[in-house]
Amino acid sequence: MKRTLVTGAAGQIGTELVQALRDQLGDEAVLATDLRTPDPGHAIRAGGPFAALDCTDGSALQALIRSHRADTVFHLAALLSAVGESRPQEAWRVNMGGLIEVLEVARQEEVALFTPSSIAAFGPDTPRDPTPQDTIQRPSTMYGVTKVAGELLCDYYHTRYGVDTRGLRYPGLISHSAPPGGGTTDYAVEIFHRALDSGRYTSFLAADTQLDMMYMPDAVRAAIELMEADPERLEHRNAFNVTAMQLTPARLGEAIRAHLPAFTLDYDVDPVRQRIADSWPDRLDDSAARAEWGWSPRYDLDSMVEDMFAHLGTPQSLRQE
Ligand code: NAD
Ligand code: SER
Repeated sequence: MKRTLVTGAAGQIGTELVQALRDQLGDEAVLATDLRTPDPGHAIRAGGPFAALDCTDGSALQALIRSHRADTVFHLAALLSAVGESRPQEAWRVNMGGLIEVLEVARQEEVALFTPSSIAAFGPDTPRDPTPQDTIQRPSTMYGVTKVAGELLCDYYHTRYGVDTRGLRYPGLISHSAPPGGGTTDYAVEIFHRALDSGRYTSFLAADTQLDMMYMPDAVRAAIELMEADPERLEHRNAFNVTAMQLTPARLGEAIRAHLPAFTLDYDVDPVRQRIADSWPDRLDDSAARAEWGWSPRYDLDSMVEDMFAHLGTPQSLRQE
């Protein structure tokens, strides 16, 4: 991997992945693209090349891959779970319409392709704890349907055409650089900002709703390590379970309270997002990722919370009981 193009680069993952790739490969080697053009001061524009790109436009993508001489594409453009449930037809159009275009261009231009899947690729019939690498996948959301179909489509392009497709089933991702894009796990980011703004947060998921989570530096490292892994060892190349910690709103609230003793957490459950969360695993088994390419998270709950507050700051007033 020497020169990369990132779709959906202005989002929660892209903002940090682009920076990590530029740190590793050099600023000019990483072309950030997105449907929306961020402000000139945004890191992905200020720190290197940026181009506006709708991922469903294969011709435009192909022209950019050629002019940038990219050898690897990180395809992050998608609509997430909660947005996808509010606009299911658009979620199919962007998530699947975009992916088939990106795969076709990857085949023609012989570039490697990273595509994230999700815990959303599982459903209410899936064993929940632990959720095996290979198991029942009958999701009940449009987002989940596009994630399963995407895993299968990437497998197809690898076996049929030899495209070097790789992917991870990410859990909920927690980060400080960019806001989340409309998912069910967004509470785990919002809670930090509200804790600092006002000292309180109202969770839209119930107190004991357990989901897999990961801190963004681990998520970014996982994507890069997977794309650098020895292909001979990758049996599950497009859909590796990966996880770092299992959180509930109550458990995360306790960890925040250790830093901000006056923090108050209450609940006003959103039935749509609660139903989505209730259909997802409690704990992924990520042993295939560990065995096939050496996956290992570096952040647990306590070190993640510590690092979030180190970046977001902790007002003195909120530290006092
Ligand atoms: P995000 O919503 O923060 O960012 C997605 C970006 O895609 C946005 O900047 C948006 O402008 C862009 N986009 C939307 N439609 C587009 C189009 N037609 N063409 C080009 N760009 C378009 O999402 P994210 O959290 O960065 O997620 C990136 C990928 O990772 C997605 O495939 C998502 O399903 C997956 N994922 C994310 C999480 C998470 O917790 N963040 C967890 C599991 C999987
Ligand atoms: N964090 C994502 C969501 O909630 C999971 O893919 O949609």
